[in-house]
Amino acid sequence: MASVQEKLLTSVTNDKTSVPKNKITIVGVGQVGMACAISILLKELCEELALVDILEDKLKGEMMDLQHGSLFLKTKIVADKDYHVTANSKIVVVTGGVRQQEGESRLNLVQRNVNVFKFIIPQVVKYSPDATIIVVSNPVDIMTYVTWKLSGLPQNRVIGSGTNLDSARFRYLISEKLGIHPTSCHGYVLGEHGDSSVAVWSGVNVAGVALQSLNTAIGTPEDKENWQEVHKQVVDSAYEVIRLKGYTNWAIGMSVAELSESITKNLSRVHPVSTMVKNLYGIENEVFLSLPCVLNSQGLVDVVNLKLKDSEVAQLKKSASTIWDVQKDLKDL
Ligand SMILES: NC(=O)c1ccc[n+]([C@@H]2O[C@H](COP(=O)([O-])OP(=O)(O)OC[C@H]3O[C@@H](n4cnc5c(N)ncnc54)[C@H](O)[C@@H]3O)[C@@H](O)[C@H]2O)c1
Repeated sequence: MASVQEKLLTSVTNDKTSVPKNKITIVGVGQVGMACAISILLKELCEELALVDILEDKLKGEMMDLQHGSLFLKTKIVADKDYHVTANSKIVVVTGGVRQQEGESRLNLVQRNVNVFKFIIPQVVKYSPDATIIVVSNPVDIMTYVTWKLSGLPQNRVIGSGTNLDSARFRYLISEKLGIHPTSCHGYVLGEHGDSSVAVWSGVNVAGVALQSLNTAIGTPEDKENWQEVHKQVVDSAYEVIRLKGYTNWAIGMSVAELSESITKNLSRVHPVSTMVKNLYGIENEVFLSLPCVLNSQGLVDVVNLKLKDSEVAQLKKSASTIWDVQKDLKDL
């Protein structure tokens, strides 16, 4: 007997298979992964969103909960612990692994997350060899290097979310001080995501007016207005949010969706993200740090040549050597 579907529809073709053009995968459906998921879904960036995790019940629960919102979305949602579900992704966001405990530094997480990545990354590349990978797991600069090594992908296809979040926090805090929306308060935090990040005060401006031209001491200990407190708050903010609610997720989720949008829509926007900086600013080792980079459908295509002050270059080099000290001892990459 014909089914309701057969009675309802008259088929025009027998071949109804379709490959989604913009597919995004999120590995790790914890707090950060799900914040990335909802931000990507609400921006309508992909036709299909795939979720992967090792916790089967949690994975299925998150998938079902999102699927129940399908009426309000334009994205098919799939999930499986097997990576076949991720096949043909354009972007893979990696948030899997462990997160900081209260008071724990990001660098402390490294060995635990390297072991997790040795399992995740080969699977990702096997099913989506042309994907751009956005690494979010901490310590993000080192985990981006680890991903680059484990994946064998070219440099433009492996991006660390880096100081995109730190810069968003910076611009928000500046906007609060000036009473101007963050999109009109320009400025970058570069270098390591986290404790040794560098605030580039010389570039902070509103409508092209450099704040340094209005206060030559801005960002220095001599500054009577104490603007350097803004950068200190950026560095402390993850610790503060983790102390208050146990984890950070919303802002990182939104910032990852913004990076994904530049890639899926081929926008060539500039974002401060983590890339290989060997031979830049006198850095000699293969480390990943954030610099302003152009993102489009080819991934990370250019680094903006930013003129930094000697003190800023010195800070970058210090971050690079801190990271290299941890990285050089990593095995089996
Ligand atoms: N880069 C940033 O700006 C930024 C900001 C916030 C958090 N983070 C980092 O993001 C990561 C995730 O944080 P969270 O709060 O979502 O943690 P979480 O513990 O809530 O979630 C992590 C998820 O990863 C999963 N996982 C573990 N091993 C896996 C594997 N082999 N394959 C697939 N999934 C696996 C876990 O089951 C869990 O669901 C942490 O490393 C955290 O430090 C980065």
